[in-house]
Amino acid sequence: MIHKDPDPATTIRRMVDGYQVSQAIHVAATLGIADLLADGSRTSDELAAATGTHPATLYRLLRALASVEVLHELDGQRFELTPLGQPLRSEVPDSIAGWAAFIGRPYYWQAWPGLLHSVCTGENAFQHVHGTDVWTYRSTRPDESAVFDRAMTSLSRRSNAALLAAYDFGRFRTVVDVGGGNGALLVAVLAANPGVQGVLFDQPHVVSGAASLLERAGVANRCHTVGGDFFESVPEDADAYILRAVIHDWDDDASIRILTVVRRALAEDGRVLIVERVIAPANEGRDAKFSDLNMLVGPSGRERTREEFAELLEASGLRLARVLDAGSFCVIEAASA
Ligand SMILES: C[S@@+](CC[C@H](N)C(=O)[O-])C[C@H]1O[C@@H](n2cnc3c(N)ncnc32)[C@H](O)[C@@H]1O
Repeated sequence: MIHKDPDPATTIRRMVDGYQVSQAIHVAATLGIADLLADGSRTSDELAAATGTHPATLYRLLRALASVEVLHELDGQRFELTPLGQPLRSEVPDSIAGWAAFIGRPYYWQAWPGLLHSVCTGENAFQHVHGTDVWTYRSTRPDESAVFDRAMTSLSRRSNAALLAAYDFGRFRTVVDVGGGNGALLVAVLAANPGVQGVLFDQPHVVSGAASLLERAGVANRCHTVGGDFFESVPEDADAYILRAVIHDWDDDASIRILTVVRRALAEDGRVLIVERVIAPANEGRDAKFSDLNMLVGPSGRERTREEFAELLEASGLRLARVLDAGSFCVIEAASA
């Protein structure tokens, strides 16, 4: 087959229609198609039987995914995973399966048409569409909360290795993971640093789902969980507080309130470690700039430049010590001012 770069009009039309690809991948992830193909190719009918779906219609989904190289179609309506499709498996180290299963959920998807409202008013789309914020919405819907926590675990696992390579957590006595979700990052930190104790802090309904991960990772004897509200308090007197993908969920006022609570709890000479994407210069950094729109639509937060982080820290009684690259994320290290 001869591959030719499409003309600009075709390229932009495909970008405009990108929501179709996103939803098609989401449906395949929800059905667990990639896991069903982990051991080799299967026919569309076999996959329909395994997923309880409508055979002829599942075939239409699969052939569309093969047209964008997520799958590869063989003779006889048989499909196999491509290298691009491999990360949709749930048990590979760089799995994106949890994220793909979350991002197209109807309630979250429904917030995105509110982007125009956000751009016109500066207001949060999710609140505009649903009349509540993402955290309240999910706290009363355990199934959605579990899907979201799995998405966070899936993203966290992908970035852990780079984070551990970039930052020496072994120098700390106790690390608190603030808004640590199901504990994927803290587990990795503790597993790599046998002398460190951990505290996983998140909303009560979130940390209640973490025990099995801590047990399975063999770190439960060095880690306990605390449920609470980081606008009120966080566990006291640790020498490191990690906030990974937490500050980007919040506007500046809310972020300063969280960071002030953390600063007050921080042991003398301790460190606050904000792990986030940092907004790149003009025309670069697609992931952070689209994540920024996702924050605008979903949780009402934003991605920030290095200078904006420095200002947030200063307003919270902290000072920026250094910024380290850790793959697609940065570690923004701060200490008491
Ligand atoms: C985007 S997730 C990031 C999770 C985890 N740090 C990670 O990187 O995978 C933000 C986390 O903040 C938690 N969170 C939101 N509001 C909170 C609050 N008021 N108090 C404590 N945790 C909260 C959520 O439950 C969620 O686990």
